[in-house]
Amino acid sequence: MDFDRVIDRLGSSSTKWDRYAGHDILPLWVADMDFASPPSVLAALHKRIDHGVFGYTDPPASLVEAIQAYARRHYGWSIEPDWLVWLPGVVQGLNLACRSVGQAGDAVLTATPVYPPFLRMPGLTQRELIAVPLVNRGPNRGWDWDFAALEAAVTPRTRLLLLCHPHNPVGRVWHEDELACLVEIARRHDLIVCSDEIHCDLLLDPDLRHVPLARLNPDFAQYTITLLAPSKTWNLAGLGCSFAVIPEPALRRRFRRAMAGLVPPVNLLGYTAAEAAYRDTGVWLADLIEYLRGNRELLREWFSDSRRLRLTVPQATYLAWIDARTIDAKNPLPFFEALGVGLSDGRDFGLPGYVRLNFGCRRDLLKEALRRLEPLR
Ligand SMILES: Cc1ncc(COP(=O)(O)O)c(C=O)c1O
Repeated sequence: MDFDRVIDRLGSSSTKWDRYAGHDILPLWVADMDFASPPSVLAALHKRIDHGVFGYTDPPASLVEAIQAYARRHYGWSIEPDWLVWLPGVVQGLNLACRSVGQAGDAVLTATPVYPPFLRMPGLTQRELIAVPLVNRGPNRGWDWDFAALEAAVTPRTRLLLLCHPHNPVGRVWHEDELACLVEIARRHDLIVCSDEIHCDLLLDPDLRHVPLARLNPDFAQYTITLLAPSKTWNLAGLGCSFAVIPEPALRRRFRRAMAGLVPPVNLLGYTAAEAAYRDTGVWLADLIEYLRGNRELLREWFSDSRRLRLTVPQATYLAWIDARTIDAKNPLPFFEALGVGLSDGRDFGLPGYVRLNFGCRRDLLKEALRRLEPLR
């Protein structure tokens, strides 16, 4: 697959590229990739469009089967069709998880830095946010939980833990013993865990495997809401097709009730693309992972010589978390923009002084960004 092919996204209403339209700033911020989706997905979309009729559409049974087969094959996880709740986005799923667990005035626990909606959704749903910092244990061990601090932060009104697995922005793939500790804490304090696993097929370290939280411990599955989507892996974010997996019927009913009359169904092209993606041969994805590893290697080398910037080398995702506190401890982003590179602001993730770089782009673009950043090195 040719991930070096130039595809001009300017003029395509791309959120990522339009932010800096008219400025010489390379957009390496919001989390989509600059690559075309797999040929099988494009072919399925063309075929569906050629049909020409775009009426109200239910989730195809064949898509549910494709997801079941994919989850079984890749994670050894058996999903029942009833457990699925279709959503136009995982972000809606985070909001709905907050709404469907406990009530207004209850608290939601999470760990920072984290994908910004984790920090916004509790407030938007009249819940209190409790954010506990992850700990950076240095170049070898990386970002880690402080389980004692996490447990100490639980209050009598805490009902929900929002987990990012793998974690955006630090790129950690939580392993089984870490997940088991989280499950123990959740059981001791009667918490539901909403596990956002949207990045779970973008594991860059060959020896790592994704373990869905709900698969780890079958007894605990009834306390979980897992959020999934094909949008990161196969670059389909604009098609808005996501789903929640909620094994426990009462929790699922509460989640559905919170959606009623407000959350629209997935659009039919989203279903079409999702099914083709989950049924794809896997060759495109293997090539993508190889390409992203190459980009990650480029970053690793460039940052290894840096005196001022420190890179967290991600185990998963195409997102790199950069400590830029030596540039500006509160807001380093403008220094990067001034050199022509647009990144995501660590403040939005709950950690000022950091920036996030999206390396889901052509290698020559990434090289050009690094060339521009030389003065900050
Ligand atoms: C952890 C995480 N969850 C959810 C999303 C967005 O999901 P959606 O576009 O389906 O709302 C992102 C996008 O960056 C993400 O990183």
